[in-house]
Amino acid sequence: MPLQIITSVEEMQNYSSVLRAKGKTIGFVPTMGYLHEGHAALIRHSCLEADITIVSVFVNPTQFGPNEDFSRYPRDFERDCHVAEEAGAAIMYAPTVEEMYPNGYSSMVLAGKESQVFDGVSRPGHFNGVVTVVAKLFNAVKPHIAVFGQKDYQQTLVIKRLVKDLDFDIRIIIAPTERELNGLARSSRNVYLSEHDRENASLIYKALTAAVDARQQGEKNAHSLQAIMQKILMTIPHVHIEYAQAVHADTLMETLDFSDDNSIVFLVAIRLGTTRLIDNFVWHP
Ligand code: PAF
Repeated sequence: MPLQIITSVEEMQNYSSVLRAKGKTIGFVPTMGYLHEGHAALIRHSCLEADITIVSVFVNPTQFGPNEDFSRYPRDFERDCHVAEEAGAAIMYAPTVEEMYPNGYSSMVLAGKESQVFDGVSRPGHFNGVVTVVAKLFNAVKPHIAVFGQKDYQQTLVIKRLVKDLDFDIRIIIAPTERELNGLARSSRNVYLSEHDRENASLIYKALTAAVDARQQGEKNAHSLQAIMQKILMTIPHVHIEYAQAVHADTLMETLDFSDDNSIVFLVAIRLGTTRLIDNFVWHP
């Protein structure tokens, strides 16, 4: 079936209501476009779980800070449609900014407690923008399931909190991070990196795996685990390390020493020039 493009909220809602009335299950993959293999994997995952998969492409202005890359965020709608269709999506929902935030728009959803650390500190207002747009997209697409990538680990916790606290009847699936051959997590923002930067950025993966290995071998002290990541990240030329931390995986709370049964998330955010890169690994006992 050729990909169908829908751009209005009303048409999207009507389309989804018809699907639901026919007893079809709807899977949803929200994106900001410039789709890559990571997104294709999320779409394929959704296709396995639901009858119809809807992908959205919307570069959401309310989740970008004033000095961030909203206007230069990479866009290629034609290619996005091709990637989405190839991966098995049936519908591309691509509303305009005016459709999502028309004149007079003035409501926002407040992100929950998981939003108050890490990227919530370095990107003030970011998660309120994310949960607002995700809530709006959910209300337009009316999915049964929604698939998000683990690469944005904090975002996955914030979205699970949104769904729980606001009683969205949607099952959230977190799909594993897709990586390039050198370990670099796939991201639309990788397009900003030179070949050389991409090689250097693969040290993020090395830092994360070194910390996971250390935990596997019995290291439980958060500072020691962090020092292992810092040491490797510091070898990247001109790097600015925003954070490289080991925290509780379900709450993002810091601790001095983990206990045997703690699940840990290793979180990294660095800047290479003007490009901000994030990645993570979750370790379970
Ligand atoms: O992860 C993203 O691409 C965005 O934050 C999302 C969830 C599509 C909301 O704009």
